[in-house]
Amino acid sequence: MRSCKYFKNILIIILFSLSLFAQEASILKIVNPPNEDINDEDIVSFVVEADKKFVDWIIISNKNKESNESNETFDIKVKPTLTHYCKSIHLHLGENNISVSGYKNDILVKQERRMIFLKSKVHKEYRYPPEKYSRNYFHTQNDEKLCASCHDMSVNEVKDVAFVDITKSNCYQCHSLVTAKKHGHAPAVNWLCTSCHSGKVGKFNKAEHNKTKYTVPDPIGPLCYSCHKKNKDKWAKRRFKHEPAESGRCNRCHNSHSSPNPFFTRKPVWELCTGCHKDKVKGMHIVTTIGNTIHPTHNIKDPSRPGKDLSCISCHNPHASESSSLLQSSSAFSLCIRCHKK
Ligand code: HEC
Ligand code: HEC
Ligand code: HEC
Ligand code: HEC
Ligand code: HEC
Ligand code: HEC
Ligand code: HEC
Ligand code: HEC
Repeated sequence: MRSCKYFKNILIIILFSLSLFAQEASILKIVNPPNEDINDEDIVSFVVEADKKFVDWIIISNKNKESNESNETFDIKVKPTLTHYCKSIHLHLGENNISVSGYKNDILVKQERRMIFLKSKVHKEYRYPPEKYSRNYFHTQNDEKLCASCHDMSVNEVKDVAFVDITKSNCYQCHSLVTAKKHGHAPAVNWLCTSCHSGKVGKFNKAEHNKTKYTVPDPIGPLCYSCHKKNKDKWAKRRFKHEPAESGRCNRCHNSHSSPNPFFTRKPVWELCTGCHKDKVKGMHIVTTIGNTIHPTHNIKDPSRPGKDLSCISCHNPHASESSSLLQSSSAFSLCIRCHKK
């Protein structure tokens, strides 16, 4: 009999801690993103479920140890009528350690974290995430169900017809930040998202087939050319081609949505080029060092392009050229005299 009672006590303790655990989980829970996720865009959507009985403030914070630039903190007041709190936040390159804290009467009652890795297509040091990270896909039926009670998850675009009011796009509800940067790409800023996100895959991402409704083919080149046929024809005729453009990796250099830079390049041109061509940081390759001459490659006006700064594209075409080394002119000599008239 004794041992039975003992057993009962243990059972009660187990049940009690289980109920505590259940309560603990409902105080505050991160619905999205999953932990140790990999991102390509510098934006991630946090969706937090919180119980107003236990929490009156939520603070989401992404502190960047290396710079203050992308420090972001959001204070969100818990409302009696709401259960879910949604907030898109910015990521910095590499590992982001984002905390979500729930407070009641200024006392921290619960904190959860998410580690998210933002990859770079330009900088090698951020191209390969540590092993623990993996790519998660959101637009699967299971994940969309979590949001469908409040968000319309369907595609409501009409092929090739721009939205008059972009806020009416169903995608805009959650992705408004992808087109928010200064220079925007026409099909993205018109919210014709599925003109690229058709669900198709290419020869480099066959493994992503059916992982999400909105895959894009990799390589993306043929899709870009389907709208930019003139460029295709012009570049195809030229003798020398730049490897990343020739192989259709247009998105190595261009962000398809928007960016702070003209032609929505991922970085200002000089940083973009030296991201892959590190050895060209100094202009040693232009004039071999005769008496320590190092040719400038940036931070000075470009005499051949009024109003613009000297950069790699002053001398090189980023896509294709008639001359070797992708020069902007027929030979190295005729290149020099574009700027050095005498
Ligand atoms: C209980 C209702 C509800 C649920 C469930 C819900 N949301 Fe939201 N969400 C909202 C409301 C309301 C807004 C608009 C908030 C505002 O304008 O401040 C919003 C806005 C957003 C935003 C824009 C935030 C920003 O900073 O621009 C994103 C992203 C988002 N939701 C994602 C999701 C995802 C993903 C899910 C499912 C995992 C989800 N939401 C589930 C109600 C909900
Ligand atoms: C309820 C919010 C919500 C709506 C509406 C929504 N998305 Fe998303 N989407 C997300 C979230 C959350 C992710 C995962 C990345 C993140 O956390 O920001 C995502 C990821 C994506 C991705 C990356 C691939 C994937 O599945 O993870 C694409 C592409 C995308 N969305 C396109 C669209 C398009 C196109 C629409 C409109 C038809 C749309 N989304 C509508 C929330 C939403
Ligand atoms: C011109 C083609 C194009 C258009 C238009 C476009 N995208 Fe994309 N999108 C891409 C490509 C290519 C990628 C793959 C990742 C990359 O290159 O950074 C991508 C990736 C994404 C991702 C995933 C980012 C991640 O972190 O993995 C989201 C979310 C997304 N797009 C949303 C949208 C939304 C919303 C729209 C409509 C406003 C849109 N895209 C329009 C080409 C496009
Ligand atoms: C659905 C059609 C469509 C697709 C797909 C598309 N674009 Fe565009 N793109 C446009 C339109 C429309 C414009 C604006 C008009 C123009 O300048 O041609 C534009 C403009 C541009 C510009 C600016 C051109 C300028 O002179 O200002 C660049 C750069 C560009 N696109 C690159 C790309 C890249 C890279 C891809 C593939 C990732 C791509 N586009 C895919 C339709 C498209
Ligand atoms: C190595 C980086 C790089 C790659 C790869 C690349 N681009 Fe570009 N692209 C640039 C830069 C830099 C500019 C801006 C040139 C300027 O300022 O004159 C540009 C400009 C453009 C323009 C507008 C100017 C023009 O020449 O018509 C279009 C359109 C364009 N790119 C499309 C593409 C497409 C399509 C691909 C893939 C086939 C691609 N790009 C691949 C770097 C790149
Ligand atoms: C994503 C990486 C990447 C970026 C960004 C990049 N390149 Fe390249 N580039 C390559 C590769 C790969 C090759 C071919 C292999 C090699 O020669 O290293 C190449 C080759 C070249 C060549 C030599 C071509 C030849 O025929 O000898 C030049 C010139 C060049 N790139 C200029 C540029 C300029 C200018 C930019 C910026 C607009 C740039 N690259 C950006 C990857 C890149
Ligand atoms: C003032 C003109 C000029 C500028 C600016 C310039 N280059 Fe060059 N670059 C040249 C010339 C000329 C050659 C051909 C050298 C040869 O064939 O001996 C060349 C060759 C190259 C090559 C191929 C041969 C090699 O040495 O690998 C690459 C790659 C390259 N440049 C990248 C860049 C990058 C990246 C930048 C920007 C940081 C840049 N260049 C800026 C003139 C320039
Ligand atoms: C796109 C414009 C441009 C092109 C093309 C160009 N340069 Fe220059 N070059 C400059 C600028 C700008 C400076 C620095 C301004 C100055 O000192 O006058 C410079 C400086 C120099 C210098 C150093 C002069 C000094 O006083 O220190 C030499 C040598 C030189 N260039 C040689 C060349 C050669 C050789 C070529 C062809 C392979 C060439 N440049 C192509 C723009 C260019």
